[in-house]
Amino acid sequence: MQTAHALDVLRTQVDRLRTGGATIGLVPTMGALHQGHLTLVRRAREACDHVVASIFVNPTQFGPNEDLDAYPRQLAEDAAMLEAEGCALLWAPTVEEIYPDGFVTNVSVREVSEGLCGAARPGHFDGVATVVCKLFNQVRPDMAFFGEKDFQQLAVIRAMARDLDLTQPHVLSIIGVPTVREADGLAMSSRNRYLSPENRAAAAALPQAMKQAIAAIEGGGEVGAALAELESELLGAGFASVDYAALADATSLRPLTAFSGAAARLLVAARIGGTRLIDNMAVG
Ligand code: PAF
Repeated sequence: MQTAHALDVLRTQVDRLRTGGATIGLVPTMGALHQGHLTLVRRAREACDHVVASIFVNPTQFGPNEDLDAYPRQLAEDAAMLEAEGCALLWAPTVEEIYPDGFVTNVSVREVSEGLCGAARPGHFDGVATVVCKLFNQVRPDMAFFGEKDFQQLAVIRAMARDLDLTQPHVLSIIGVPTVREADGLAMSSRNRYLSPENRAAAAALPQAMKQAIAAIEGGGEVGAALAELESELLGAGFASVDYAALADATSLRPLTAFSGAAARLLVAARIGGTRLIDNMAVG
């Protein structure tokens, strides 16, 4: 596996990979890789001739109260994992390479980025959309792979790609990959490492309470009552607070107060022991 830290090197390496019309799958990450990320690499390998992974801890998607410096950085360990999965090229740019002096552009996706995590993290999805737009232009992949774990992020990226015509003429496909879960159902996340053993055990209540809420909603129960029950289950299990628990349209993420049977999503963000966990599941 080659590693590129500068854009000119990346472009030369991508051109080399493209020889003979080979296809490229991009897996954008911020590093601190776990099985969820490696599943994206495997999916990309199945679908494309070569996989390019990026590792970039993107400062513009961190808020002033979010500790950018504390975000785990383990480039050598991550690179070894990517190489073992058959990744062809690692794009690990410097901050200066992505945001050179004089950088003044912001990609902002309205509506879909405004509620849920967007409400608690102003500017976060602008940072995500801006850097992902740049990664698409830098690597020009045929397909890009994102985890459904960050469902709102995926919806924002899909909306951006549609609105900015990024899917034409290069035919970039954006592939959402189902969340990878631990044995007890907890969604894999780089943040799980911050949980104490006690809180890690209690965190399994999140997927369990979500499944109960989905069963109630699909069974014809009132949405508001199912969400209130979910919240009280989490608080009873040791969660400190629930930022949101919402039923939303699966594409627009507009909140739903009733379930019509059309594709919907249950999305939750809750805090336990200082760690904010998010999860989402399909309804219907
Ligand atoms: O999901 C992530 O790791 C990041 O938000 C992404 C998509 C790599 C953009 O920085």
